[in-house]
Amino acid sequence: AHPFNVNTKGHLEIGGVDTIQLAEKYGTPLYVYDVEMIRNHARAFVQAFRDAGVHGKVAYASKAFSTIAMLQVAKQEGLCLDVISEGELYTALQADFPTEKIHMHGNNKNEKEIAMGVEHEIGCIVIDNFHDIDLLDLELMKQEKTMNVLIRVTPGVESKTHKYIMTGNEDSKFGFDLQNGQAEDALKKLLGHPRINLKGLHCHIGSQIFETDGFRVAADILFVKLAAWKEKYQFESEVLNLGGGFGIRYTESDTPLPLAEYVKDMIQSVGQNCHKYNMKSPEIWIEPGRSIVGDAGITLYTIGANKNIPGVREYYSVDGGMTDNIRPALYQSKYDAVIANRPEASPEKEVSIAGKCCESGDMLIWDLPVPQIQDKDILAVFSTGAYNYSMASHYNRLTKPAVVFIEGGQDYLVVKRETYEDIVKNDLSYEGIKSFTS
Ligand code: LLP
Repeated sequence: AHPFNVNTKGHLEIGGVDTIQLAEKYGTPLYVYDVEMIRNHARAFVQAFRDAGVHGKVAYASKAFSTIAMLQVAKQEGLCLDVISEGELYTALQADFPTEKIHMHGNNKNEKEIAMGVEHEIGCIVIDNFHDIDLLDLELMKQEKTMNVLIRVTPGVESKTHKYIMTGNEDSKFGFDLQNGQAEDALKKLLGHPRINLKGLHCHIGSQIFETDGFRVAADILFVKLAAWKEKYQFESEVLNLGGGFGIRYTESDTPLPLAEYVKDMIQSVGQNCHKYNMKSPEIWIEPGRSIVGDAGITLYTIGANKNIPGVREYYSVDGGMTDNIRPALYQSKYDAVIANRPEASPEKEVSIAGKCCESGDMLIWDLPVPQIQDKDILAVFSTGAYNYSMASHYNRLTKPAVVFIEGGQDYLVVKRETYEDIVKNDLSYEGIKSFTS
């Protein structure tokens, strides 16, 4: 069910390193990444464009997991980078990421974010709304610079057969509506703009997608407009960014395609459209996040308290929970896990894995088949590499776990475990007004 080996001690390993030794060395909860897997995913995307002989760009969507070490790996792999906030851009700068390879998203970019992007001469800003255009124009005048942009559009289809077009539908906070004339208004504002260099369109249809038809439908809809705009404004999109959203396997029932398949199909559908409308092929950009890091990461926990309600359910609690993985509570996401110190022991019962937060919704896995469990067993939860660390919180004043990278059989600490000093470091003391303290 998972791509990790078991060593001669019968322990789960990741990247050739014993997970039990990692738990002892760094403590739990612990995020561990197999860096070779991250690289392989990145290379699969890049190679798919090369194999097709098509100009493509693969931008890692850093929202999935943004730390300096991760962005250094993305840089080594020659990826571009998608950031959506000052904080994500700041992290990229700290990682010395080539700024011309960064593009900035966001449905509410503020002056500071835009100024920072302009100052560092990032490769591109994805225009999400008219507010963006006004702020960017002002900032470019101020700094006397120019900027490449894409216009983010929502295809505006809410077809029942394509339910996964979730962020591309009409009623979405993102982007310009393609059907009601707003995208065209944005285009008119940007065409021939003295400082803003319009490179093309962007569209992102959703996340954790297993089929290619959604991307095809989106591309077909974009090309209908592109053909009209070519006619009317002689505008031709140099770049078509089709977003991210490629699915990964969390549990057995998830059936993602090999990563290259998504790219191949996209290239094919863009090619067919170009042929149909007699247009030059644009560069195709994609922005995968989850599919680069998701299944390369696992989380190790120590199992503690047990509560058995005979005939109803048996709970086992771990030393983390919704603070390091909010996804089950937020999206009812399913995960697979094993007892890392004996992953091959036959399951004898089903138990439910609870977090330690003060809230009934803090459950990580319902009905997980397990062998008999002993105190201090280590639980390894798979596919926790995307949107776990990046959405971690301090609820109940829990500290965020450490992050360890594994490569070449070695372990590298890349994010330190937080301390309680970290937790209170921004707290200021308050004496109260005089009358309360006398
Ligand atoms: N591009 C844009 C414009 C996006 O909004 C996103 C994700 C991506 C790319 C990357 O999508 P990916 O390849 O990672 O699916 N927190 C949620 C996922 C939110 C995705 C938001 N946008 C989760 O944990 O499932």
